Amino acid sequence: MSSYERVTAHVEDVEALREEGRQKMDWALQHMPILQSLREDFAATKPLTGETIGMAMHVEAKTAVLVETLAIGGAEVAVTGCNPLSTHDDVSVALDAVDNVTSYAVRGVDDEEYYAAIESVIDHEPTITVDDGADMVFRIHQEHPELIDSIVGGAEETTTGVHRLRAMDQDGELKYPMFAVNDTPMKRLFDNVHGTGESALSAIAMTTNLSWAGKTVVVAGYGYCGQGVAKKAEGLDANVVVCEVEPRKALEAHMEGYDVLPMAEAARQGDVFITTTGNRDVITELHFEEMQDGAILANAGHFDVEINLDELDDLAVDRYEARDGVEAFEMEDGRRLNVLAEGRLVNLAAPVGLGHPVEVMDQSFGIQAVCVREIVENGDSYEAGVHEVPDELDKEVAQIKLAAEGVEHDGLTDEQVEYMASWQHGT
Ligand code: NAI
Repeated sequence: MSSYERVTAHVEDVEALREEGRQKMDWALQHMPILQSLREDFAATKPLTGETIGMAMHVEAKTAVLVETLAIGGAEVAVTGCNPLSTHDDVSVALDAVDNVTSYAVRGVDDEEYYAAIESVIDHEPTITVDDGADMVFRIHQEHPELIDSIVGGAEETTTGVHRLRAMDQDGELKYPMFAVNDTPMKRLFDNVHGTGESALSAIAMTTNLSWAGKTVVVAGYGYCGQGVAKKAEGLDANVVVCEVEPRKALEAHMEGYDVLPMAEAARQGDVFITTTGNRDVITELHFEEMQDGAILANAGHFDVEINLDELDDLAVDRYEARDGVEAFEMEDGRRLNVLAEGRLVNLAAPVGLGHPVEVMDQSFGIQAVCVREIVENGDSYEAGVHEVPDELDKEVAQIKLAAEGVEHDGLTDEQVEYMASWQHGT
């Protein structure tokens, strides 16, 4: 069942909902000069004609602009969510009304419905896949290996998805080429750092209506996302504590002036905890026992396994909704620990979560669009496995953005090119 059919079942005025979704998409598009430029090009040249693209991504306005761009390029697109809580139903319904697009994404699905929607996308027999978290690629390999021969390639959006694909690749189990969109400079230096920093902090502030100033914010993981969260929290006058397992990252955080502590110690000090590791069991029973009354726990990593909610549930004598998007777990000694968005990535799964700012996603999705074009044009030249996105594609997207911003920059002279390539020049 498409999202339109499913939403129709419980919403009276579906047309009004569709219009709301369309309005959000139009607003996003206005602020996405890269996708505007690519869709003009795609409309004229139709480079994706004849392809069927299967997508599992966070279905909200910016993603919808990407989906529509791919359809304008001539593809048939089937899309669903990559998280049970991140879909915006109005956008999903609006997307389903776009020519050559079918959306199966609905917010608030259980695990069975979530995978059923992925199956519905796979029923379209995609020739290209676009994932955020690799659930679709994994499902195709596990359940539908017969489709692999007709899949030319795919693209993966996030760190956790790229980790999963690399693990599959190392085991010799990844059977078609996948671009690691996450790993491009145009994606992770902006999306993971600034996007996650800004949107996680604003989603937490809006969900709790609490201030950052003077709070002790514990950031678990000082990778791209953690650096963004730490920097923005510091900018909002919080005291930032970083927890890391990688010695050079811990040192980097220390040299940036943050307190670096083991989680067992940070647990006692923190007012707000934000996990950004892509790992599991980062905050566990040991830590819950040390936390102060009123502590806020939020996750910005891809999966909901960073805060061990089963252990928290075991410790709790009561749990209840403290606010929309906030669940309080009451401990035997009366302390209340507040979990946001069920421990799912807070910037998208909180009821107010809008995901990253539009401009940031324009860059990430610009890379997705040129990767899909590359798969169509040159897919046969890539072997099965994980591939870096060719640097010229990343630069192409950067140039479109610079042009849209009216930013001019220098280029190398011939002498400089020759100098940089030579080893004979010395003192
Ligand atoms: P990264 O690999 O750059 O950083 C992760 C860091 O966590 C590493 O420095 C690692 O050493 C550290 N770490 C691992 N286990 C740890 C533990 N037990 N305790 C403390 N630190 C630990 O990855 P990146 O790009 O920062 O992504 C992190 C997660 O966020 C991934 O799951 C990714 O998919 C997700 N993500 C979420 C976004 C969002 O919108 N919320 C946007 C982009 C990525």
